[in-house]
Parts: sequence; C-alpha cells; structure tokens
Amino acid sequence: MDLGGSVYLILLISKINTMQKQTVQFSYQVFASIDALSISDQTLFAQAQEALALAYAPYSKFKVGAAAILQNGEIIKGSNQENASYPIGICAERVLLSTASTLQSKVPIISMAITYHNERGGNNIPIAPCGMCRQAIAEYESIVNQSIRLILGGKTGEIYVIEKAADLLPFGFSGVHLQ
Ligand code: THU
Repeated sequence: MDLGGSVYLILLISKINTMQKQTVQFSYQVFASIDALSISDQTLFAQAQEALALAYAPYSKFKVGAAAILQNGEIIKGSNQENASYPIGICAERVLLSTASTLQSKVPIISMAITYHNERGGNNIPIAPCGMCRQAIAEYESIVNQSIRLILGGKTGEIYVIEKAADLLPFGFSGVHLQ
C-alpha cells in the first residue's frame, strides 16, 4: 500500500492550519475639489497653501506646505527646508511637528492639511507624507493619544481625507518594540 500521497496531504493540511491570512486595510474620503470640503477644512487647506511661500526648495523645486489645527484651535504651519547637502533637508510635516513640540510641548493636533507646488508641473494629485514623516506623525499621535486627520491635495484636483495618519504606516516600528 502506497501511503506517500496521504502523508503529503496530511503534512500540507497541518501547514495550512498553522498559517492565517491577515488583511490590513483602511478607508479614506475623496472629495472632488477643495470647494467640496467643509469651511473649516478649506480654511486649513488655505493655510497650508500659504505655508508654501516659506518653503525653501531650490534643489527639488518641489515646495510643500503644511498647516495644522491644534486642540486649542491654534493653527501652526510648516514648509520643507532643503540644503545643498541634500539629506539635511527636512519635510514640511516634520518642521510642523517640531514647531508644535517646541511651542507648546506635545500639544494634540486635530487635523493637518498638506499641499505642494511642483515647479516642474503636475500639481493636481494629492501627495501623502513620505515614510520618514509617517513614522514621525505616528509617534506624535501615539504620544498625545490623539489621531491626526490628514487633508491632502494639490493645487487643483481631488482631496483625500485620512482620519488617522498612523493608518498610512501598518506594522510601524515604535517605542513599544524597544522595551
Ligand atoms: N517633501 C515634503 O516636505 N513632504 C512630503 O510629504 C514629501 C516630500 C519634500 C522633501 C523635499 O524637500 C521635497 O519635498 C522633494 O522631495
């Protein structure tokens, strides 16, 4: 009697039983244009557009502006600041977070609008924070125990609203892993 096939099948089933498939997913809202946002989100987005004016991006020609509304209603802004030694440059989002922490310790941030001006063209699709900024924003959220809503858009085109920035960083590394 040849049991080879059955043994193989049993081994396969036992392997399958020790593996589970998991799914990570998140939802976000898509608004047709800036005008479709609530007035308060439009106002915050306009502040992010204003922040573009203070960006220093002579190398990439890609200016990024961010504006956040704090729990106390105050608005703070950030813009990207580059350097001839390229890696020294810092993104708008982390400038903003550092400003928030410097001005009032780690104050809860409710929403952050992020926009950009690409001098090379193409300004009509939303950009999302880079990986390094996702890491920084996720830690900020966790420290103050307040999720940060992101409002993302270009000069024209659709606007994406993401309820919790950490959703953009599944399996994020955190201080928990250092304990
Ligand atoms: N940049 C930001 O400031 N935020 C982002 O979310 C993406 C990229 C900056 C970094 C650099 O100064 C320029 O955009 C081009 O990468």
